[in-house]
This record gives sequence, C-alpha cells and structure tokens, in this order.
Amino acid sequence: MGTDRHAFVVVANRLPVDRIDGAWEASPGGLVSAVAPVVREQAGAWVGWANTHDDSLEPFDFDGMSLVPVSLSHDEHQQYYEGFCNATLWPLHHDLIVAPQYHRSWWRAYREVNARFAQAAVEAAETGATVWVHDYHLQLVPAMIRAQRPDIRIGYFCHIPFPPVEQMAQLPWRDEILRGLLGADVIGLQREADAAKARQAMQKLLGMDPEELRGRVGSYPISIDVDEIRAAAESPAVQEMARCFRRDLGDPATLMIGVDRLDYSKGILHRLWAFEELIDDGILDAQGTCLAQIAVPSREGVRAYQDLRDEVEHTVGRINGRFSTLGGDVIHYSHHSHSTEEAVALYLAADILLVTSLRDGMNLVAKEFATARRGRGGALVLSEFAGAAEELDQAIIVNPHDRAGLKAAIHHAATLSEDEARRRMDAMADTVDAFDVRRWAQAFLHDLRNPASAAALTPSD
Ligand code: F6P
Repeated sequence: MGTDRHAFVVVANRLPVDRIDGAWEASPGGLVSAVAPVVREQAGAWVGWANTHDDSLEPFDFDGMSLVPVSLSHDEHQQYYEGFCNATLWPLHHDLIVAPQYHRSWWRAYREVNARFAQAAVEAAETGATVWVHDYHLQLVPAMIRAQRPDIRIGYFCHIPFPPVEQMAQLPWRDEILRGLLGADVIGLQREADAAKARQAMQKLLGMDPEELRGRVGSYPISIDVDEIRAAAESPAVQEMARCFRRDLGDPATLMIGVDRLDYSKGILHRLWAFEELIDDGILDAQGTCLAQIAVPSREGVRAYQDLRDEVEHTVGRINGRFSTLGGDVIHYSHHSHSTEEAVALYLAADILLVTSLRDGMNLVAKEFATARRGRGGALVLSEFAGAAEELDQAIIVNPHDRAGLKAAIHHAATLSEDEARRRMDAMADTVDAFDVRRWAQAFLHDLRNPASAAALTPSD
C-alpha cells in the first residue's frame, strides 16, 4: 500500500480510529459518524493524525477505508494542536470567551503541519479526484493542494462557527488563512450566518468580489446518523441501562442532564449557576431533582481547559455541599468518555437536556436527544448560540448569559405538560429525520461536483 490512489479523499486532523491495547478501534465523535460512511461507500482514503507519536505508521485498511496516517512530533502536537488550533483559533472562532494567543512559533508549526497533510492528500488522490478537507485545523490545506494539483475538486467544511470580521481581523495571519480556504471550490459552514461572516471577511480583508464568493461559500448544517441513534434507543439492552441509570441516581422526580465535552464554549458553569439558584429560590426541590452532568475530558494540555475543569469541579462540589443529603447528591458529575449506547441510555433516562452553549457550531447532542426521545416526551433547553437552535425551534430556546431567562426556561421545561412535551419532541425528531447526516454529506458533495447548483443554493448577503 502507501502508493494507492483514490477518487475520494477525506483530510481531517484525526483519523477515525484510536489504538487501544495495540489494536485499532473506531473512535467515537460527530465528525467520524458523519464522514466515515461516505468514505466507506466510495472506497475512499482518509488522511489524518493517528493520535500517537509513533512516526513509523504506514497506510492501512480499516472497515472499508484506506487510512493514511500523518505523523506529528510531540513538539508539533503542542504548538500546532494545543497551541495554534486550540489556544488561538478555537477561542477566536468562539466569541473570544477566553483570549486567543498569537505566537509566531505556533503559526510556523501550523503551516508546516498543514503542508504535511496537503502532501499526503496529494499523494493519495488520483487524477481528477475529489478531496474533502475538514475543520479549522487544516485551513491552509485547500490552497496547498490547489498549488500542486489543479485537476482536483477540493471541498472544505468548517465544523465550528466563523468569527465576525472584527474578530477575525485580530489574527496576524488572517490573509494567509483566508487565502488557504479559497483554494477550495466549495467552502461549507454550519449556518448561513457563518457563511455570511466568512464571505464578509474575504470581501473586507482580501478585497474579494462578492459575486465571486456567492456560490462558493455556503451553509450545510451537519446532522447525526438517525438510524444509529434510533436503533440504540430501541435496543432492550440500552433501555435496561436507562432504567439502571435512573435507579442509581435515586429515581428523582425530575432528572436533568448535561452531556458535553469539558469546553468553555459549552456554558457548563452558566447551567450550574442557574441550577443552584433555582434550588436556592425553592423553585426546584433539592429532594426531587437531580442533575447528571457528563463532562468528557478534552484538550487537557491546554491551560484554559485545566482552569475550566477546576472551576466546574469546585462549583459542583459547592452546590452538592449546600444541597445534597446523605441520601444522595443533587449533582452527579462524571469526567469520563462514554459510548453512544451509554449516551442514548442517559437520554432515555432523563426528563430534560440542558444545552447552554455560549457559542457552538451545531451541537449534535441536541439532535441525538430529540431523535432518541421520539414518542417519549421530555424537554430540550437549547441555547440560541448553538447552530442547532436554527432547526430545533420547538426547543425551549435560551440566552445562557441571561440568568433569570435561563432559570425561567429550566422551570418551564420542568413543568411542560406531557402532551405539549411529546408534541414538541416529535416535531424536533421529524426535523432531524428529514435532514440526517447522509443528506448533509450528499448536499455538500453534490454542490462540490456540480458548481452551478452551489451558486443557485447560496443566498446573497
Ligand atoms: O467540533 C469541532 C471538533 O474539532 C470536532 O471535529 C471534534 O470531534 C471535537 O471538536 C473534539 O476535538 P478534538 O479533536 O480536539 O478532541
């Protein structure tokens, strides 16, 4: 292998596998469940980092895909992934919730690593191939591929929000990043508002003609594998797990849940503060209410994530200290990863899901919850700053910065009538059903392969 060429190549920061006890296993996560089926269907290749510093890995086949590992040294991991990707770009794209850091050495590492990914993609792509580049880690890759291989159709999809031009303007290397993206034939973002911001940045910072951008920069809201979530929700083993979860949590009258990566963009603290005040005010009863918060470990080498973990765990401790009894905690907190089955079991066990993101590209947990709970009622409290709020308008939409509004929304969720809850949940499940992840991939790839249709679909600014 190694010299195999493919008509379809995906390029993403991570490969869709993890090495566990010496064997490769499929890794969980939204990007993988969205993109892997398409790579399999087209017998394509996936270029990405194998989550190891072993630089002797050769390309290998896994579950119908050709995987092409790109190696990263320990230093590159720090400067490219933890540094430029997650301490510069991530906060820049998430409303500057923490201050982005601008370091020239991180930028140099980003450029070098992007060049390595681009080279691997070029080598894996046959003449006239389609290459689909994913996410903020690899924004220089489209132009780097284009420079060597004008024959390739190049798509780029950004899984996270796009910053407003005033924020983008802070980035010392903004022109290089925008030109990197413009190497793609089609640039996709989650929401039309993100696409408009990307077009505006290209217009204002690079002086591009808006006519030239229309048709190349559009919105493609990502979704979930509905069949996978539905199958888990109907599985007797998962339903039994849900009953056990609820029982182990003390069988509360109302079970609220939060399921997030431990990331400051998710607004976990805002939700904890609102929950604490609701108990303090006597609006929620500490005996009958419980919040189960799953906080999946994430980017633990990055300082802002370490600080957040300290603050979340301190806050959970304080609230439990104030309101828990020897009979049980008001907040059950877990800092672990979980399987899809465990997540779905928790959705089935719960009454209310709290999604209080301060900024979120989409939030697939909200879509999974609605899908799993079809016919079962329950309520979704959903931040207006999550991309999913645009589609799931039957959720209880909140501004997580508005403490009074968030408390009222949680109270509203806890007191919805059964009929109303079921009507809203089923309407949301219908919406997700009508546009699942396969439709998302088809829509993007259709526009990538038929340039005229992309122009017709993209509304003007
Ligand atoms: O949402 C953006 C994203 O990069 C996803 O692609 C990924 O699954 C998630 O964040 C977790 O990121 P990381 O690769 O840093 O663990």
